[in-house]
This record gives sequence, structure tokens and C-alpha cells, in this order.
Amino acid sequence: MMKIKIVATKKGNNVISRHIHSVFFEYFGHVIYDGIWVGKESSIPNIDGLRKDVVEGCRELGIGAMRWPGGCCADHYHWKNGIGKERPSRLHPIADPANPVWRHDFGTDEFLHFCELTGADPVLTVNTATGSPEEFLDWYEYVNAPKETKYGAMRAENGHPEPYYVRYWGIGNTDENVWHIDYNNPVAYAQTYLKYQTVLREDRKHLYFIGLGLSMRHGLPGWTGKALDHITRSQRALPPDALSVHHYLGGAKQGGKLCGDAVDFDEDGYYSLLNLLERYQYDIDLHRMTIREHAGPNAKTKICFDEWGTWHPEATFANNQNQRQTLRDAIFAALALHIFYRNCDIVEFAMETQLCNLLQSLFETSGEKCYRTPTYYAMKLLKDHLGQQLASVLPDDVDDDLDAIASVAEDSRCLTISLVNKHLHDTKSIALELPSGDWKRMKSDIITADDIHSLNSFDMPEVVCDRPFEIADIRQFDLPPHSIVRMMFER
Ligand code: AHR
Repeated sequence: MMKIKIVATKKGNNVISRHIHSVFFEYFGHVIYDGIWVGKESSIPNIDGLRKDVVEGCRELGIGAMRWPGGCCADHYHWKNGIGKERPSRLHPIADPANPVWRHDFGTDEFLHFCELTGADPVLTVNTATGSPEEFLDWYEYVNAPKETKYGAMRAENGHPEPYYVRYWGIGNTDENVWHIDYNNPVAYAQTYLKYQTVLREDRKHLYFIGLGLSMRHGLPGWTGKALDHITRSQRALPPDALSVHHYLGGAKQGGKLCGDAVDFDEDGYYSLLNLLERYQYDIDLHRMTIREHAGPNAKTKICFDEWGTWHPEATFANNQNQRQTLRDAIFAALALHIFYRNCDIVEFAMETQLCNLLQSLFETSGEKCYRTPTYYAMKLLKDHLGQQLASVLPDDVDDDLDAIASVAEDSRCLTISLVNKHLHDTKSIALELPSGDWKRMKSDIITADDIHSLNSFDMPEVVCDRPFEIADIRQFDLPPHSIVRMMFER
């Protein structure tokens, strides 16, 4: 029996940001066309051209923010192609079998409308690879300036007289900036960043700029520190508000063959993939130290973990980077989210990749059909932590297969606890010691299945999903193997 004591601590910087449940999407495979955009004339139920099932699902999840147009696509995105009535298709610069030409039916207004409908904050990634500071300024004006300006007037003509007031801007994406343009030249990126910042000198202070960081998988130690030194002129000037980190784990990326197939993995593959998650903690620690050292001890720069997830071997370009997900992916997602919550003093954003039909998606669609993935249900189960204060979890023993997070609402009346038992065979007996008070259980739910290889499909969409967790005693219960449990208490 493992005893777990929960201690509610009041601190200024331990609120779990709602942006930790965020998503990212771009023009690859069937992510946007047909995962998000089907067009107003489609027979598929839609709201102004946006799939109704996906809009509703995002709303239910309380998605905090959406990042678009990439990713790699942001490095090639020229926003003027995607507004107004004339939207010619362009060459897709990245070989993508599902999009031999780059359609622009879904552009800035459609993206921002999608955010309005779902309640998510938009994060626009600007093109620092093949774009220019001026193109960025024009886009900014289109989105945020009054209709008396050139591009504000264009926005009004396109049906949105009021500015959108987008606050969050990603200044570049890692891939082209780091790999293709100026490999291992952090100063070159910093100079670009400063130019993009300078075109908005006055407005900058009201905005939130996400600069580039680099995960350990990029193998360029020292890169982020050098970029920060230059951007801050050795700690004399404003650092980015956050640094972006991308990191995929699984057979096709970090972990190689050890993690095995998306579905037919063995026991070693199961544990190998989940154990790789310690690399997310490493990335967070690395950025925490780098920010302190290079942006100054008082810098408020946060982490935007804007691409995270599994990347299984079957997700290749030929396969539209699509992959199947099992209960293992749900457990992976829950453990990843636990890491982000645990580091909520510095992790402001985390974006699962990508929203529909690609990698660790939340939705899979095919024409009219749509189902929610195991990862969707993991996010749904844990969403009550958002906006609450992280509490301390004090186990009386060490058990590497057990992971727990607790959070308390600001008014101290609601307590949420989530537990992951990643052991494939062992049930874990838990005794909970709650903070003092007369706590009543409001709900408890579980995600598990008899077989860890279980998956959802169009025919059987709810094999892996949350279900009521029936227990007699809220202070003492058994956690089944390979399960995720979330309990909520009120007083
Ligand atoms: O999500 C797929 C791609 O992987 C993104 O475009 C890119 O940023 C990352 O390397």
C-alpha cells in the first residue's frame, strides 16, 4: 500500500496555465483539409466551413490556444495568399502527397474564426525563413490594426471590421531557421528576431513573443544561450516572453526501434517509449537554466512546448504522417501533461501535435466520419487541473510506475488528483491523505482497457475513453494496471 499525502501550497507562480492544453496544426496530410475545413457548401455538418464535430470537441476540451500555420509550413506561408475572394493555390514547397498544391481556402480569417468558436487563444507563427519583417508588419496590421489602416481596411472588407487583437506571436519555427538557413548560427536567428521585434517597437510591450529554443534532440548545446545573449544584448534588453521547444518521441524519432510499432509493440517497447518522457523534463530543466543564465535571474521568459507527442514508425510522408494510437498513447499523453503541470512555474504553453489526422492527433476524420483518439480522452480526463494551483504530492515510498498530480482551485474549495499507474501487470493500492477539511468526492473517472494495445476506430470509437471509476472508499482504493484516474473533491 502506497500512502500519498496531498499538501496544498499557496505560491505566486504555481497556477497550471490553461494553455498547457493547446494544439498545433498546419497544411500536411489531411490535418486541415478535411480534418478542420470542409467548406461552407459541404454536406459534412459544419459551422461556416469548419467541421462541427471538431469545433464541438475542441470546445468540450477547453483547448487553451491554437498554433498555426506551422511548423514547417509557417516557414513558407505568405498570408496574403489566404485572404479575400481570390485565393490561388500555390506550390507546396514540402513534398506532401495529400497536398500536391497548397490550397488557401483556410487562411487567417478562417483560423481566427475557428479560435473564436472554440474559445482558444490564437498563436500566429510568422515566417522568418522565407518571409520578411515587412510581410510580418502587414499581417500584424491586417489582424490587429484599426480599419483606417491599409490592411485593417482589407480585413474590414473581408467581413471583420473589429481588429482581432492577437497577442501571441511565434517568431519563426525551428526547422528552416536552424537546419536549412544558418545551421548552428544562433546570432543569425537573434538578428532576425530583433528585426521582427523592431517593426513593432511600440506595440511590442502589449504582445507576447515566442522565440526559438531548441530541445536536446537537436544536438546543438549552447545554441539557445547564445541567441538569448544577443537578443537581450547581454541582459540589457527585453528577452522573448517564451521560448519554443519541439520534441517528438517514438520509433521514428527519439528511441528508434526500442519503442516498436504504433500498435504491435511488446513490453520493452511499451516501457521504452514511456521512459523516454524524462527527456521532456530534461528540456524543461535546460531551458530553465539557460533563461536564468542568459536572460537574467529575474527574466519572466516561459517555455512554449509547442510541438510534443509520439511519432511512431508508420507516420511517414507516404502515409500522410498518420498513425494509430493505443491506450499506450493515452498514458504517454497523461504522463507528458503531468510533466508540464509539475513545471507550471515555467511551462506556459504545451501543444499536442497535430489536432487532426496527423501524429498524436485528438481527432481522426474520414469524410463524414470522425472519432476521438485516446489522447483526446486523456486531455479530457485531466482538464480540471487547468487554472488550479499545483499542490504537493508526498508519497511515503518510491515507485517509478506511479505518477500523481494534485491541484487546488484558487478558492481552495475544489481539489483535483490524477494518478497514472503505468505498470503493465500490477495493481497499485493507494491510501490518500487529503488536506484538512471535509472533502466530498464529486466525480472519479478512469481510462483503461484490458489490453494495452486497445485502440479507437471509426467502427468502435470508444474502446479507449473515460469511464466512471467506481470505488467504495475515496481514501483507499486500487489502481488497475495501465490506467489513468482522475478524482475531484469539493468542500
Ligand atoms: O509536425 C510535423 C513537423 O515536425 C512540423 O512541421 C515541424 O515543426 C516538426 O519538425
